[in-house]
Amino acid sequence: MERVISGIRPTGNLHLGNYFGAVKSFVQMQHEYDSMFFIADWHSLTTHPTPEDIRRSARTILSEYLACGIDPEKAPIYIQSDVKEVLELYLYLNMNAYLGELERVTSFKDKVRAQPENVNAGLLTYPCLMAADILMHKADKVPVGKDQEQNMEMARLFARRFNRIYNVEYFKEPESYHFNKHAVKVPGLNGTGKMGKSEGNAVYLCDDEATIKKKVMRAVTDAGPERLNQEKPEPIANLFTLLELVSTQETYDFFNEAYNNMTIRYGDLKKQLAADINAFCAPIREKILEYQANPKLLDEIAAAGAAKASARAAQTIKEVREIIGFRV
Ligand code: ADP
Ligand code: TRP
Repeated sequence: MERVISGIRPTGNLHLGNYFGAVKSFVQMQHEYDSMFFIADWHSLTTHPTPEDIRRSARTILSEYLACGIDPEKAPIYIQSDVKEVLELYLYLNMNAYLGELERVTSFKDKVRAQPENVNAGLLTYPCLMAADILMHKADKVPVGKDQEQNMEMARLFARRFNRIYNVEYFKEPESYHFNKHAVKVPGLNGTGKMGKSEGNAVYLCDDEATIKKKVMRAVTDAGPERLNQEKPEPIANLFTLLELVSTQETYDFFNEAYNNMTIRYGDLKKQLAADINAFCAPIREKILEYQANPKLLDEIAAAGAAKASARAAQTIKEVREIIGFRV
C-alpha cells in the first residue's frame, strides 16, 4: 500500500473551511493508504510559542482531528517532537541544502518581510525539517495545500541530491496530493471570498449552537433578488454554497426555487442554515469535548502513534547512517 504522511501546523481550532478543504481528505485517505499524521510542533517554534501554548495546542489538535474521524488504529497520529530521529535526518539534510536556494523560498521571503525582527535559522531551514518529516517515512504521497508546493519541491530536490551525493537509489521523491483540487472552497459569512481564521469569518467545529446561530444570523445578505432566475451575487451564492455542504438536497432546492421566484426570506434561509450547520457540527463537537475531558486517552493515542513512527524512523536512520559511513 502506498504511504501517506502529512504534518498539521498547530494553529488554533478547526473551522468548516479546514474541515471540507483538508481534514475530510485526510479522513478519506486513511482508508486508501498506509497513512500517518503528525502535529508539527517543532516547526511551530519558529514563532516562539510559550510552553502553555505548545501543550494546549497539541491536545486541541489531537482531539479535533480524532473527532473528525481520524482513526488512530488506521492512521497513527503523533506529535513531531516525540520522534527524535527526525532531528538526525534534519541535520544530514541541512548539510546538503544551500543558503541560496533556501533564501529563495517564497514563504521564507514572506516571513522576512512580515517579521524582520525574528528571521531565525529555523525559518531558513524549515524546508529541510519538512523534508526530513517526509523522507523519514519514505512517503509516496503527501496531502498538502497549494501553498506547500515549494516545500514539496525542496523535499524532492533533497531526496535526489542525497541519492546523487552518495550514489544510491535510496530516497524516493514524494508526490504532492493537493487536496484543494479535490475539495470545495468554503466561503465566509461576511459576503467575501473564503472562510478563514485570519479573515475572522469562520464557524468553528467546536462552536456551540448559540454561537453558530449568532454567526449565521449576522451573515451578509442584500435587499433580495430583483429579477426572476437572476444570478446570485457573491454574499448570497456563499450562503447557498454552505447549504450545499451541510443541508439536504430538498432544503437546497426549496431555497433555490424561492430565490428564483423571488419569494425568498433570508431570515428563514439563515435559520435553516444555522440549524443544519449545528446538526453537522454537533456530533463532532460532542466528540471533541469527550476527548478533551480525557487527556490521559489523548496522551496514550499520541504515545502509540509516536511508537509506530519511531519504529519506522529508526530503520531509516540506521540505513542513512550506513550510507553516510557512520557506525550503526
Ligand atoms: P486558516 O488560516 O483559515 O485556518 P489554513 O491556511 O491554516 O487556514 O488552512 C489549512 C488548510 O485548510 C488549507 O491548506 C486549506 O486546504 C484548508 N482551508 C482553509 N480554509 C479553507 C476554506 N475556506 N475552504 C477550503 N479549504 C480551506
Ligand atoms: N509546512 C506544513 C504547513 O504549513 C506543515 C508540515 C510540516 C508538513 N511538515 C510537514 C506537511 C510534512 C506535510 C508533510 O501546512
